[in-house]
This record gives sequence, C-alpha cells and structure tokens, in this order.
Amino acid sequence: MSADYAVHGSIAVISLNNPPVNGLGLATRSAAIEGIRRAEQDPAIKAIVLTGAGKAFSGGADIKEFNSSKALTEPTLHSLIRAVEGCAKPIVAAIHAVAMGGGLELALGCHYRVALPGAQIALPEVKLGLLPGAGGTQRLPRVLGLEMALNMIVSGTPVLSEKLAGTAIFDKLLPAGADLVAEACAFAEGIADLRPLPKVRDRKVDYPDHEAFLQFSRNTVKAVAGPFPAPLECVETVAASVTMEFEAGLKFERERFLHLMQTTECKSLRHAFISERAASKIPDVAPDTPVRAIRKAAVIGAGTMGGGIAMNFANAGIPVVLLETKQEALDKGLATIRKNYENTLKKGKLTQEKFDQRVALVTGTLEYGAIADADIVIEAVFEDMGVKETVFRKLDEVMKPGAILASNTSTLDLDKIAAFTSRPQDVVGTHFFSPANVMKLLEIVRGKATGKDVLATTMALSKKLKKTGVVSGVCDGFIGNRMIEQYFRQAGFLLEEGATPEQVDQAIEKFGFPMGPFRMSDLAGNDIGWYIRKRRYVEKPEVVYSKTADLLCEMGRFGQKTSAGWYDYKEGDRKAYPSAVVNEMIVKHSADIGVARRPIGDQEIVERLVYALVNEGALILEEGIALRASDIDMVYLTGYGFPLYRGGPMFYADTVGLFNVLGAVERFAKGRHGEAWKPAPLLVRLAAEGKGFNS
Ligand code: NAI
Repeated sequence: MSADYAVHGSIAVISLNNPPVNGLGLATRSAAIEGIRRAEQDPAIKAIVLTGAGKAFSGGADIKEFNSSKALTEPTLHSLIRAVEGCAKPIVAAIHAVAMGGGLELALGCHYRVALPGAQIALPEVKLGLLPGAGGTQRLPRVLGLEMALNMIVSGTPVLSEKLAGTAIFDKLLPAGADLVAEACAFAEGIADLRPLPKVRDRKVDYPDHEAFLQFSRNTVKAVAGPFPAPLECVETVAASVTMEFEAGLKFERERFLHLMQTTECKSLRHAFISERAASKIPDVAPDTPVRAIRKAAVIGAGTMGGGIAMNFANAGIPVVLLETKQEALDKGLATIRKNYENTLKKGKLTQEKFDQRVALVTGTLEYGAIADADIVIEAVFEDMGVKETVFRKLDEVMKPGAILASNTSTLDLDKIAAFTSRPQDVVGTHFFSPANVMKLLEIVRGKATGKDVLATTMALSKKLKKTGVVSGVCDGFIGNRMIEQYFRQAGFLLEEGATPEQVDQAIEKFGFPMGPFRMSDLAGNDIGWYIRKRRYVEKPEVVYSKTADLLCEMGRFGQKTSAGWYDYKEGDRKAYPSAVVNEMIVKHSADIGVARRPIGDQEIVERLVYALVNEGALILEEGIALRASDIDMVYLTGYGFPLYRGGPMFYADTVGLFNVLGAVERFAKGRHGEAWKPAPLLVRLAAEGKGFNS
C-alpha cells in the first residue's frame, strides 16, 4: 500500500505514503481510491482528511511513468480526482511542505483545503515542457483568479502558502507549528454535515475584459518562450477556464496536454530531468557508501580555474585555502575573487553579510603546511605533467591521511597523476568548466584505483557545490573535451572546403547552441587549442587537423584577449565582426592545399558538427568511459551549451533515428577526411537493431 488509512473519531485520515515526496504513481493512486471507497462505505465516518505522510503533501505525478503506459493505467490521476470530487462525504486536503503539480491538482479536487504556512504551492509542469494535465489549468484560476493563476502556471514558480492568504485556495491557513492532522480533523468535524459539498469546478472565473488581458499575455509569453511550445499552450488552456464550461475546458486541457507530451521539446526536458538524477547513481557504488566529511578545502593554483573553484567552496560555506608559488600570483588570484564577489554585491545578488562571509572563507598561502589538514585539495596548476608531478608528490608528503587529492586536469592521464602518490585510492579528477563559479558541469574522473568512498564523497560534494556531477573514465579529454575535439576538427575542415567562420557559427547557433565553435574559441583563447594540438602532433601524428587554426595563431590572433581572432573585435565591445584578413587566409589556405571551395549548406554544417559528437559519444559509451548515454547528454547540456530542447547529442540522435545518423556518417566517410568518420560499432549495431542510445 502507498497510502495509509486511519480513523480519528468520525473522521477517516488517508495519508499518501510514497517517499520521498508522495509521488502519485499507480500504487499510490489505487491506495488513495481504496481509502476513499472504504470511508464512503463506513457509516461511522462523516468526513475524510487527505494528507501526505512524511516530508510533503505531494510532489505530483511520478514522471518515470510518463515513458510507460502506467500514467494512463486506471485509476489515472484524473479518475482519482473525480473520485475525490464526487465523494458523497466531504474531503479536506491537509497540506504541508509541498503541494505541486498533480499534488496540487488533487488538493484542488478536494472540497476543502487547510494548509500550514511555508508550504510550496506550484504547478511546475511547464518546466518539463508540459501543462498541468489533471484539471489544474481549469481549477487554479477558479480559486486564485485569472491573473495570479496564469502567472503561476506559465512560470511554474512555487509560491508559499501564506502568500496566498485571502484567496479561495485555502479554507483555513493554520499557524506555524500547528498539528496539521489534528487541526484538519477538527475542521472536518465542523463542516461534516454541511451540504451541498463545495466544488472548485462550480466556481466562476470573473475577469472584466479578459480577452485584452489574454492577448497581452500571449504576446508577452511568445516573446520569452523561445522554441518551447508549452508556455503558450498554458496560456490557451488557462484562457479556456474563462471562455469554456468546466467539462469542455477539462477536455481541451487534456488534448493540449497529450499533444505536448508528444513534442520533442517536452521529451527532451523530461529526458534532462530524469538524466540529471540518473547521473548521480554509480552502479558499483552503493547509495549508502559512507562519505568522508569535507569541512576544509584547499586549491593549488590561483589562476583562471583555481579562483573559480575556490569560490564554489566559499559559496557552499566551506573554508578554502588557495596555494600559490609566488605572492604576486596569490594576490592577483585573491583580488579577482574579491572583485567577482563585489560585482555580485553591486548587482544586488548578494547581501553585504553574505559577501563578508564568503570573502572571509577564502584565504591564501605560499606554504603547504597551511593546507595539510584540508579534507580535499584540488590541483589547478598549469596543464603540464611535470608541474602536476611536483605538486602531487608534495601533496602526498604533506596532506593528512584520508584527504582527497583531486586534479582539475582537462586532458592528462589521471592514473599517471595518481601514481605520483602512495595513495592512488584517494586521487580523483574534478574537472570543472570555465568559469568554474558559474558553469553547472563537474566531470568526476574515476581513475583505475579511485576508492568507491572517494567517488561517493566527490559526488556528494558536487551536489553541495550545486553542480551536476557526471562520472567519466580516464581518456584523453574525458567525455566532454574528447567529443568536442571531433566537433572542432569538422569545423576546421568545413573552412577549408568552402565555409566561413560566421557561416559555421550561424548555422549551429540556429540549431540552438548559444555560440558557434569559432566565437567560442575566440572567447576561450585560440592559443589553448594551439598548445593542445602541438602536443597531439607529436603524440598522435595520425590525427589530422585543419591548419587554419594554427595559421590564425601564427598571425597572433588569439581571440577576444588580443581583440582579434576568427573575428575582429573593437575595444570594449564583445561583438564579433567578420574579418576580411581571416577570410582571405582561409581562401588562400584552401588554394595552397589544392581544395576547390564549394558552397556548403547549413544542414551539412549542422550534421557534420553534431554527428561528429554523436559518433565519438558512441565510442565513449562502448568503451565504458561514460556509464550511460544520458550522462553524455548531461555533460553537453550543462557544460557545452547543447540546446536543452534537443535533449543532448545522444538523445538528439535518437530523435533523428540512428539509421539516419549512420547513413550520414557513412556518406561523410566517403568524402574528404573520411577517416574521421569511421562509424562507431555501437552506432552500427543499434541502428541495425532499430534501437536508440537511450532506449
Ligand atoms: P592558469 O594558467 O590560469 O592558472 C594556473 C595557476 O597555477 C597560475 O596562477 C600559476 O601561478 C599556478 N601554478 C603553477 N605552478 C604551480 C605550482 N607548482 N604550485 C602552485 N601554483 C602553481 O591555468 P588555468 O586555466 O586555471 O588551468 C589550470 C588547470 O585547469 C589546468 O590543468 C587546465 O587544463 C585545467 N582546466 C582549465 C580550463 C580553462 O578553461 N582554463 C577548463 C578546465 C580545466
């Protein structure tokens, strides 16, 4: 059973009981209906209290059911709400902590509602590309009024119960700390004999000149909804609460809900939601693996990454010590951190008190002795194995036993780094993305000796730092950068064959990336890629790159920092202006290597860039570097700006159909630099089986 039944005098108390938030899965719905029937049939029962056991009233539908037929299996949420509303005895919803989505819709089906203050009230379906599909769009406006209900449904933002005082949503708001069930039972006793039973459906939504308001809402929502259809559909269904009879409105809501469920945008958002949760599960690490306490952190290197990483700890309230070799570098790093916090303070996004706390949590040192007692140390020094070796040997010498020794390396072999220490089980990769205090992604690199408790601790830490932690095995570039290299290689080849940087950028930006490869390189610094390629020319001479990026660097065009890269930049302006000299260099290079330039369409550009990611992703998956296809999607959604409404590269490939993706890969394999397009065996196999990466 996932709802409990108890009797308090003449009141039956049905408690939804499906931890953690009483999701309304099939078993819970069935048990709730069962409870209602039982109470209806018992002549000693005069009224019913419907509440949630544990931490919440109800967090709503169980979205895992959306991908199966379970959500549509009787009793559906609709049937449960009908049973509640149609019950011959009054039902009082007793709400605490969370009444969201289907949970709130269920409460709105009850005859009365009492609530504790501090409860989060929301219809957040829009965040999953949906609209409330169990009457929420028709009932909420009937208790809150058109404007407030529309705002809540279009934004999905939770509102605290006490903020809704004075509306018809609650019949009674209890004082903080009240005994919810006892108070709800007392309330139920008081109304038990009143007839007719009040129903939200019988109320009317009054709004003078509602058409003008709705038109205004359509215009505003259209302007901000981007590629997502759900916000506008929310407006249309809420409009039906004014313009249609209740049952017709419900039917309309149902139709629009089912339509949205089938859209790629909605499927992508649901995929991202489920994938984020899946990523935190590591199959061979038990969920109850004991984690090490992280009370003090240290970061080695106060450069671009070190400073941002330190801010993450300070933001989470963990004291952090930055270690540098020279006072000047240390001062510079600390000053940058302070400046970042000052900017946030100025923008009003940080209180003075929080500013003071955070700044005080970051200190600096030149001495290893000052960090020896840290629970975790993250190395963020130059990307050079020799420098990393010196640092890790020193850390091994000074750090207390049990400290986690982490490296922020983006390309180097973590197992080699671990071997510089006598405690490889304590070594892990924590690959932050730049700017480290902003970007959500944290690739957690698992070396061959990394201890399970170290992995579990790092995963828990990523949550504490509000990051999306994704585990990667050891390989050159890990998940994200190994894939992006193929994307950049294709971008380079496209230039040689006839495209311009702006054409490539525009095509992929139209696809939904916030920034194309060339604008991105200009932002990050073209010299970084140059440095990595120079190493690759020695280590992997068989891998071919377009020489255009090297020629660009030889011209001293490192990107925004030199006001010249793939594009020209003006002083104090980040806008990218197409560069005649760069375009000339590219055309000349094509001639030098004997390639006849041809017109290249947007479709080819998008396919070559995105399928290059997908094919490499398939190799990464097959090699076990990524645990699941959805982990790769999370890396790309949270670290590389892959458009959310397309669900990540692997999910996107599934929506295109792997048969079609493979067809394109095979076509490219017959073209120039076909060696870059050897189809990944996993792609070939899944395409032949008619399957997807995520299914
Ligand atoms: P950076 O050059 O900005 O900073 C490195 C800092 O380390 C400098 O302040 C330097 O003084 C200090 N340093 C050098 N040797 C040291 C030593 N022996 N002891 C203490 N401090 C030392 O470099 P950045 O960009 O911060 O990169 C650091 C690491 O993070 C590299 O491994 C890099 O591959 C990785 N990474 C960089 C990203 C980026 O976008 N910049 C993204 C993700 C990872």
